[in-house]
Amino acid sequence: MAGRLVTFEGIDGSGKSTQVQLLEQELKRIRVQFITFREPGGTKLSEKIREILLDKKNIELSSTAESLLFAAARAQLTTEKIKPALGEGKFVICDRFIDSTIAYQGYGRGLDINDLEIINNIATDGLTPDLTFILDINPSKAVERMDTVAPDRMEATGVDFFRKVREGYHQILEQNPDRCIAINAEQAQKNVFNEINQIILKRFAKELTCS
Ligand code: TYD
Repeated sequence: MAGRLVTFEGIDGSGKSTQVQLLEQELKRIRVQFITFREPGGTKLSEKIREILLDKKNIELSSTAESLLFAAARAQLTTEKIKPALGEGKFVICDRFIDSTIAYQGYGRGLDINDLEIINNIATDGLTPDLTFILDINPSKAVERMDTVAPDRMEATGVDFFRKVREGYHQILEQNPDRCIAINAEQAQKNVFNEINQIILKRFAKELTCS
């Protein structure tokens, strides 16, 4: 099978990670070769960068430095892991990828979207996902699911920030209708997954039967 890259996006607390796990179980069941990564992270170096990005002590980190660190983590993950896996014909699942930078650093922090697109392009060497699920949820509901006892640096930004990020994802959806699909993440987890699974089976019918 030709490798395929499927990414999951959404604000913190949208339930992405649960959906990624459900998809992993399903791909195992139907014996499809896959590999999963989460961003920032996925390589030794990218996990170190993750620590810097999520550490609440680094409150002085500028938005530009933040964007470049996310990009550095992504560049390493793309070269070291994602591209080789796609080359082996694997189904690659990524919990966050390029759209997180546009939504969080662009719409959330207010950095220039065109600049961020250039940075993304450099980091991934032009690699774009084949399919992106954007889990859509009202930020006030998502905040209920976040870790309020020990929020990380990003989670500590507050609900107004997540409103801007959500709006960013809506813009991304409008601009990339062939690649991005919105999923209502306020439904029961099982229903969210059924929708995702139906879309994957339809979109990759050929690849999944030939694997
Ligand atoms: P994580 O704990 O992995 O959150 P989640 O489970 O919601 O993915 O933390 C990653 C945080 O980093 C999350 O708040 C989103 C943020 N982020 C950006 O701001 N820009 C990016 O490019 C990426 C990949 C993540």
